[in-house]
Amino acid sequence: MSRRMGRRLAIMGAGLLAVVLGLAVVGLAGGSAVASPATEQQASVAQQVGNVATGKATWGTRALCQRCHGANGEGGAGPDLAGRNLTEAQWQRQIRQPWGLMPAFSKADGYVTDAMIPDLAAYFASLPSVATLGAPRFTALSTDSLAQQLLIEKGCAMLHGPTMNTPRRGFGDHVWTYDMFKRQVRESWYGREELARTSTMPTFTSRQISDADLRVMWDYLSVQLGPLVPVTATLSSTPVTVGGTVTYTVTLKNNSKDVSAEGLTVTGVIPTGGTFVRAVTTPAGSAFLGNAGAGTTMNSAVWATPKIAGGETLVYSYEVSVGTVTTTTAWAGWTKPGAHFAVYVPPTPTPTPTATATPRP
Ligand code: HEC
Repeated sequence: MSRRMGRRLAIMGAGLLAVVLGLAVVGLAGGSAVASPATEQQASVAQQVGNVATGKATWGTRALCQRCHGANGEGGAGPDLAGRNLTEAQWQRQIRQPWGLMPAFSKADGYVTDAMIPDLAAYFASLPSVATLGAPRFTALSTDSLAQQLLIEKGCAMLHGPTMNTPRRGFGDHVWTYDMFKRQVRESWYGREELARTSTMPTFTSRQISDADLRVMWDYLSVQLGPLVPVTATLSSTPVTVGGTVTYTVTLKNNSKDVSAEGLTVTGVIPTGGTFVRAVTTPAGSAFLGNAGAGTTMNSAVWATPKIAGGETLVYSYEVSVGTVTTTTAWAGWTKPGAHFAVYVPPTPTPTPTATATPRP
């Protein structure tokens, strides 16, 4: 490129700029009709203060938000967020003081900090708007009970699932009352003073879920479905010798502070190749039901235990003559009597201390 051409281009550039400025002046002179597009432009400039990549990463870890708004803001039980160009102020207001059904996330619990909001707004403003809206995770059936419908329609089930396992584990951990439940829903209480615990659960006002509806939910969760009590089972064995007899011991422990578990079935699996000999120890109050599934892969010693109190430990043992054994497993299933069935599988440590036996040579 020659020096002359370069200069010409520079002059043309200056000329274009002049034309644009000229238009802007004309626009402003036109009055309020052009003021609104100018405000919109300012809003989207303001949103770009947030960092798109940081916003994307933050959203990726906000599972509670995703459960209502979709993994990519495509919508679900809550509206779509992608490409909606909501301002930071709109985000802020909605999260702290929601307009309608959405529960509030407080500044104090820190699930969404003020600092995250510009990034979230920038991320969703950077996405194209959604062509096909997402569907809610769960939909109530007309055959569902009032409690089940409320849990789904008020949004609780979107976060906890229709069987509400997380709150029911809480009810199994220590005794809960309706008042504690209500405080949890209204204030994200979770035993704040008494147990020095914190909760990031968003809160619902009585306008969103009435006290009467809360009572219906509570009765269903605490009585019909019942608490999930943290009962663990561990298995140990005497040394395994090929051709010998081994004694397996199942130690059942209720790790709850003060909630008892009822209607337990304790199953001590017999390794493939082993043969059940006899039950050695049966705790008081429990009944040995026999050797279930003899000759099948689910060969096992089974007890019925009507109740194990919070903090209580019960011990069961049985003899097996060793065959071509490999591993054994044990577990305890807790069933709440009635129409509903629940088995609690504690997350850690898993109740499968497999006693490894020596295979027959
Ligand atoms: C239980 C379901 C639910 C959860 C959880 C939820 N939202 Fe919402 N969200 C809604 C609903 C429903 C609306 C529509 C307004 C209303 O009803 O409050 C909404 C609206 C919004 C809006 C405004 C959308 C608009 O169109 O104006 C934003 C922004 C938003 N939510 C962000 C979030 C964030 C961030 C989280 C997580 C911290 C979150 N939401 C968690 C249900 C939910």
